[in-house]
Amino acid sequence: MSDSSGLYVVVLAGGISHERDVSLRSGRRVADALVAAGHRVVLRDPDAGLLPFLVEERPDVVFPALHGSSGEDGSLLGLLDAIGIPTVGSSAAAARRAWSKPVASSLLGASGASVPESIVLSHESFRELGAAGVLRVVRDALPGDLVVKPAMGGSAQGVGIVTDPNDLPRAMVDAFTYSDVVVIERRIVGTEIAVGVIDTGDGPVALTPVEIEPTTGIYSFQARYNAGETTFYAPSRLDTAAIETVAAAAIHAHLTLGLRDLSRVDFIVDGAGVPWFLEANVLPGLTETSLVPLAIDASGTDAATTYSGLVQAALARAGRNSKV
Ligand SMILES: Nc1ncnc2c1ncn2[C@@H]1O[C@H](COP(=O)(O)OP(=O)(O)O)[C@@H](O)[C@H]1O
Ligand SMILES: [Mg+2]
Repeated sequence: MSDSSGLYVVVLAGGISHERDVSLRSGRRVADALVAAGHRVVLRDPDAGLLPFLVEERPDVVFPALHGSSGEDGSLLGLLDAIGIPTVGSSAAAARRAWSKPVASSLLGASGASVPESIVLSHESFRELGAAGVLRVVRDALPGDLVVKPAMGGSAQGVGIVTDPNDLPRAMVDAFTYSDVVVIERRIVGTEIAVGVIDTGDGPVALTPVEIEPTTGIYSFQARYNAGETTFYAPSRLDTAAIETVAAAAIHAHLTLGLRDLSRVDFIVDGAGVPWFLEANVLPGLTETSLVPLAIDASGTDAATTYSGLVQAALARAGRNSKV
């Protein structure tokens, strides 16, 4: 796929987050797709030289393919905005809303979306109030299976499914390794669905929702980045009405959180077809085994066209004309 208006694009990948390796893989894929679309691409790690490099180089657009903190928490996006370089993706403020799972869930819950009941605990409150008392309240308030996860994080790192209440303390310790705040959430049983949302200037459009069936039953870090560990269905095996409902719920989440350009919203659809919001990702994985590239293919388009469209949209938003 070639694009006549070749731009100078810096793709950011790597970083020091827990998801560095995933990001490097995403970045390479994005860079290849943008080169195929006719752009000049430099792949750059966000290190101490990055900001001076960008100020000096003034690329047309930056495409962050970063996962985890710095990229997804809005820090780097705010700095890129301050430098005044057009950037693909959400604003720093919107990234902060999505990056914090409790904040995103609260906003979605208030907007009428179905969000699993949860209790959110800081490490400090856990220590202050004592594990025993806290855990008893949690178990009484949220009987049944639970999911424990870091309030901020990704790639299922630190996420635990608790089917025996005795395992709750251990799951919390694991989650606290990744974040000072932990979410303890009712486990929703159903079909896991991820919906990519793309907006190249004409409003957000849901890509084909992808159904995720991990071989082990849990969509863990392992299941995500090793080929063959997960079966994906695009389109999903849900009925048409449920697919339409989850696609609409993804657009609703994207808009409610004020996201821009690109996102991926994760749900579990229960037996009644209700999509339960898990989280929204502002810089979703774009590796060879990731959901959004799969959804792009299933939607009848391709990565080069899609990412090039996002780059053009970022440039147009910044009010500059495309250079030839
Ligand atoms: N409430 C829940 N019910 C059932 N499964 C869940 C729930 N929350 C998370 N999960 C499982 O854990 C995985 C990771 O959780 P998620 O909130 O998407 O965080 P992240 O992908 O950022 O690590 C999901 O892909 C899903 O398999
Ligand atoms: Mg997720």
